[in-house]
Amino acid sequence: MTETGEAAVGSKIAIIGTGYVGLTTGACLAHLGHTVVCADVVQAKVDSLSKGEVPILEAGLDELVAEGIAAGRLSFVMGAKNAVTEAEFVYLCLPTPQGADGAADLSYIQSAAAEIGPHVLADAVVINKSTVPVGSVGEVEKALGRPDVHVVSNPEFLREGTAVQDFLHPDRVVIGGRDEGAAKRVGDLYAKLEAPTLVTDPASAETIKYASNAFLATKISFVNAIAAVCEAVGADVADVVEGMGFDTRIGSAFLNPGPGWGGSCFPKDSHALVRIAENAGYTFGLLRAVVAVNEEQFGRVANKVSRLAGGSLEGKTVAVWGVTFKALTDDLRDSPALNIIARLREQGATIRAYDPSDQDPSDARLAGIELVADPLEAATGADVLAVLTEWPEFAEVDLGRLAEVIGAKNVVDARNLLDRDDLKARGFTYEGIGRS
Ligand code: UGA
Repeated sequence: MTETGEAAVGSKIAIIGTGYVGLTTGACLAHLGHTVVCADVVQAKVDSLSKGEVPILEAGLDELVAEGIAAGRLSFVMGAKNAVTEAEFVYLCLPTPQGADGAADLSYIQSAAAEIGPHVLADAVVINKSTVPVGSVGEVEKALGRPDVHVVSNPEFLREGTAVQDFLHPDRVVIGGRDEGAAKRVGDLYAKLEAPTLVTDPASAETIKYASNAFLATKISFVNAIAAVCEAVGADVADVVEGMGFDTRIGSAFLNPGPGWGGSCFPKDSHALVRIAENAGYTFGLLRAVVAVNEEQFGRVANKVSRLAGGSLEGKTVAVWGVTFKALTDDLRDSPALNIIARLREQGATIRAYDPSDQDPSDARLAGIELVADPLEAATGADVLAVLTEWPEFAEVDLGRLAEVIGAKNVVDARNLLDRDDLKARGFTYEGIGRS
């Protein structure tokens, strides 16, 4: 919020990169009243976005893109430099993939900054929105080569599937900049959102992003480890989490046990933070253990499946419900389901999968998986059913029909989603996570 509480509507903004973060940011800023030009390097993407065709599954995004285009506040162009010539603010929303040594690869950000350097208006603010290593504000300053342009960090805290909602109702806005005036101008862009705004130095803002994701991953690995304890001692993890959650210092959010965490952020960011710490002289043993517990979890789920199949998956068919990294997204990046499927295939299983999202069967990541159009079709004749993603529709499947079509009545429910008692009453052997 500005000191006066006044929203800086009508600012001219460029967004470089139209992936999940860039497109959501651009559409939401246009919704807030700003004029936004989004740049990408793929002509076909620019063309289809200009027609309002959104290439990703993200609740509410189609509507906001259509609204922005209709209002004349949202447009798409080829090439970063074409977006920035009139911009007061330039958001860098480019990928920072994991490099060979675990560190984030900054090259997309650096080359975009170098490209726009000669074309950015004096006094413009360049904003690092993607998750970038600590020190990246300085790297972007160098690549820009423009001492008259400000660079700030303004990390995103958007979950895929609820990114629009998260953008418009944030828990906080974090801005890291050396120039107080520039940081305040960026804060003004969000004034309508009424979120608490924290202004810090660049390194602290960059660290807040990594620390937040690492902490969330830690919570999940913790609950998955507790689930293993529950299985060993005969406790029920749902009751344990409920009991923990009443303690307001703990809370119950983000403590759902599952097949392990994945997606485009947690795996990459946790490895990057381990590397950042190591490069700075600190061995982040706790976070390494969090990553190790996650790997272990993939293996634990795969073992449950082979155990229910009688100890060997050779010649067995496993029905899989859900291949995306979580529900309500079509994103396969670092999907725990795919990791587990790979382990099952290595042990000789044939995989027949159903996912409610639109998937391209020729996607290399789905190679060797037979994709079918219906959950019961996937289960027909299968030796084990593995529920790997928590799509709500799986909980609606008629369990009577499931009992009729499945080959052997075995279910591994890695999301604790199905009705365990109903399945057991129908003669299924059921294994959830942390429920003995
Ligand atoms: C995550 C963070 O939640 C966002 O705040 C952050 O902005 C984003 O990364 C990012 O850095 O861009 P996202 O990757 O979309 O968002 O997904 P999450 O909803 O956080 O889920 C991550 C993984 O954890 C999924 O595999 C999910 O199934 C798993 N998970 C989540 C659990 O197993 N249990 C839970 O209780 C919650």
